[in-house]
Amino acid sequence: MPGVIMKDLIKRYGDVTAVEGLSLQVKPGELVSLLGPSGCGKTTTLRLVAGFLKPEAGEIWVGDRCLSSPTTVVPPERRRMAMIFQNYALWPHMTLAKNVAYGLRFKKGISTADRARRVKKILKLVQLDGLESRYPGELSGGQQQRVAVARSLVVEPEILLLDEPLSNLDANLREEMRFEIRRLHEAFGITTLYVTHDQGEAMVISDRIAVLHKGRVVQVGTAEELFQQPRTRFVAEFIGKTNLVDGVAAEPGVVARGSLRLRVASADLTPGAPVAVSIRPHEIQLVGDPEARALGENGENRLRGMVQRVSYLGDAVDYQVQLDGSDVILRVAAPPSLRFNPGEAVGLAVARAACIPLTEGGE
Ligand SMILES: Nc1ncnc2c1ncn2[C@@H]1O[C@H](COP(=O)(O)OP(=O)(O)OP(=O)(O)O)[C@@H](O)[C@H]1O
Ligand SMILES: [Mg+2]
Repeated sequence: MPGVIMKDLIKRYGDVTAVEGLSLQVKPGELVSLLGPSGCGKTTTLRLVAGFLKPEAGEIWVGDRCLSSPTTVVPPERRRMAMIFQNYALWPHMTLAKNVAYGLRFKKGISTADRARRVKKILKLVQLDGLESRYPGELSGGQQQRVAVARSLVVEPEILLLDEPLSNLDANLREEMRFEIRRLHEAFGITTLYVTHDQGEAMVISDRIAVLHKGRVVQVGTAEELFQQPRTRFVAEFIGKTNLVDGVAAEPGVVARGSLRLRVASADLTPGAPVAVSIRPHEIQLVGDPEARALGENGENRLRGMVQRVSYLGDAVDYQVQLDGSDVILRVAAPPSLRFNPGEAVGLAVARAACIPLTEGGE
């Protein structure tokens, strides 16, 4: 089972640079998501890997084979890959079994019996056995989705490329299918590139996530690494909700914004350099004014503010708190057992470790 290596890929459409120096390695048997907003180059990257597009620069390697470079492009049917397209289509006039067998149309030297055996095996794995003679119109959205997955798996590809495969499904089914895709990946262990713009989906499905922004990979890591240690503003805001406080590096381990001074997780900042600090709403502890003095005995940040807005969300209460003597408003997610009202003075405490300085780039 080989992995995939993408090296310094560039792809332009006329004046538009869709992929701009993209590098990424997918290890053998790993599932890596390409996560990013609409237009950031996800589909283009997948099509480069599949061999439908030729890069202007850069290379794509699978194991020890170079499949794409500006001078050579091995055609898609010789890549031992399968791709599910963003708007995958099943043939409406073919039964489920025929739709799946269609995946084998380019495979030479497979007997009819072998073909039937393979289709049967794959349908059992995606839990569609017994429905072989149904037409797509007679299947639910999730079942149709599984037919598309079965059709790509039946060729026993070395690499699986999935482009937003759950986008046609309603919200509940999407969530269920996340676990289904993960289960299938664990059953088959095929090296997989999975495209999505949904961070929750990427977090459930992936071994690692590559965050794409304007045609580049800005950070790669596990869901936890990206959430806890974002390196750029873009990643901090794209993976979960956060507060960003723009300031300037002061003495070691401190970022200042006017009279506000935040002790942050890293001491290694260039004095005078602009730094944004990311603070997750659930990392901020909120207490009533009388208790505020008791906060933060152990080197935490102690702040005071005034509640501006309160939104009850069921499992948490979302507060917007204006800090005293500052233009900064922080979002705080507190347990519903704590209740403060707009206009109330409160104390806030944030551990140094929860104040993540974002040092890379302006975005
Ligand atoms: N055939 C094309 N001709 C010209 N420009 C294109 C073409 N295909 C894509 N683009 C442009 O290239 C950029 C990247 O497109 P791409 O389809 O890779 O984005 P994406 O990340 O898959 O977006 P989405 O989440 O909306 O599917 C976009 O600016 C898009 O408009
Ligand atoms: Mg796309």
